[in-house]
Amino acid sequence: MNLYFKIHPISFIKAMSMALELTNTGISNHHCRTTIIAKAIAKHLQLSQPELQTLIYASLLHDIGAASNWEEKHSIMHDDNTSAIFHHPEAGYQILKGSPFLLEIAVPIRHHHDRYCGGNPSGLKGEQIPLLSRIIHISDRIEVMIDKNKHIFKQRQDILSYVESSDFFDPALVKIVKTLSASEGFWLDIVNYEYQKVFLSEFDFFGKRMLTSDDLINIAEIFSGIVDGISPFTLRHSRDVAATAIFLARKHGFNEEELKLFYLAGLLHDLGKLAVPNEIVNKPDKLTEEDYAIIKQHPYYSQRILQQIEGFEEISNWVGQHHEALDGQGYPYGLCSDKISLGARILTVADIFCALTEDRPYRRMMNLEQTWAIMDDMAEKLKLDPNIYKYLKLYPDEVSALLESQKKL
Ligand SMILES: [Fe+2]
Ligand SMILES: [Fe+2]
Ligand SMILES: [Fe+2]
Repeated sequence: MNLYFKIHPISFIKAMSMALELTNTGISNHHCRTTIIAKAIAKHLQLSQPELQTLIYASLLHDIGAASNWEEKHSIMHDDNTSAIFHHPEAGYQILKGSPFLLEIAVPIRHHHDRYCGGNPSGLKGEQIPLLSRIIHISDRIEVMIDKNKHIFKQRQDILSYVESSDFFDPALVKIVKTLSASEGFWLDIVNYEYQKVFLSEFDFFGKRMLTSDDLINIAEIFSGIVDGISPFTLRHSRDVAATAIFLARKHGFNEEELKLFYLAGLLHDLGKLAVPNEIVNKPDKLTEEDYAIIKQHPYYSQRILQQIEGFEEISNWVGQHHEALDGQGYPYGLCSDKISLGARILTVADIFCALTEDRPYRRMMNLEQTWAIMDDMAEKLKLDPNIYKYLKLYPDEVSALLESQKKL
């Protein structure tokens, strides 16, 4: 097993930014395009390297506070003229401020909708608003104004007129945007999908700090909280799956370092659920075929997002396969028995065990007797690996302690 926990922050942040772009019909690119605009402005301002780094990280994650709430995610793209727009920057700040690594982007994100003219809940106005927040604000609004169905050259003047006429933005930044706007290349870079990859690869050697396993776990815990926040029924799900996966992997003989991989995989296995609208996850009735099709995308997206992170090759495979079944009837690849990695089989058992012992909108949590009855049947039908499942039944005291720690007893 390849353990590599010296990961460059931008690699992880790019992947998490992509997670924020998930929608039920694919991937949007609001965060990346906002970052392209912000970087162009920053170049004019000649920001220092550390400031530029913070700006890029903050821009790539700026709407993190809205990620669990589908309705909010949608509304902030269309209307910033309401007081509701101030909710997600504050929520983002609250999510990030406890993280030693992401703390530096918490403040710029907190104020990214503060208006230059004032009237903000923060009480700040004008130059009191952090410069990085002012840059993200104007970049974000330019990005959302772009109509994807119209050629960019046909709209650039209208976008510029809007920012020039609004008192929400820093006049010095408006001036810079006006200068940038004179160049066709500025606009083409924003809308050219292929350029995004080149743009992001420029930052691969940004700064010197590398992420350790503890940093990674800390950031993964933040994202698992966002994913679990999609539904009140899953508030602890990812953490509980991570703890159960560690229990199973330890019994199977993995060493302490390897267990960290299982913990990360458990935390991030459902990352792709950010593509599933809250109303589907919380539906008390039977899911329609269409709902189910949307849900079935999530392991695929979890895998494709995590795959971009150097050193996450194994973790991304495991999470991509956590809904596969040994009988070949799982999804998204329909893999059979030995084609499913051991790591995935451990995650699957942990995931099913945690899901059955949690409340769901359509049923109450199950007790151990009910859980074993269902899982015995699944093991027999090769829906899960009996050789992994056996550890849950072999160690009843430890399983009870696990449930106790998950507040299920
Ligand atoms: Fe925002
Ligand atoms: Fe935004
Ligand atoms: Fe899942």
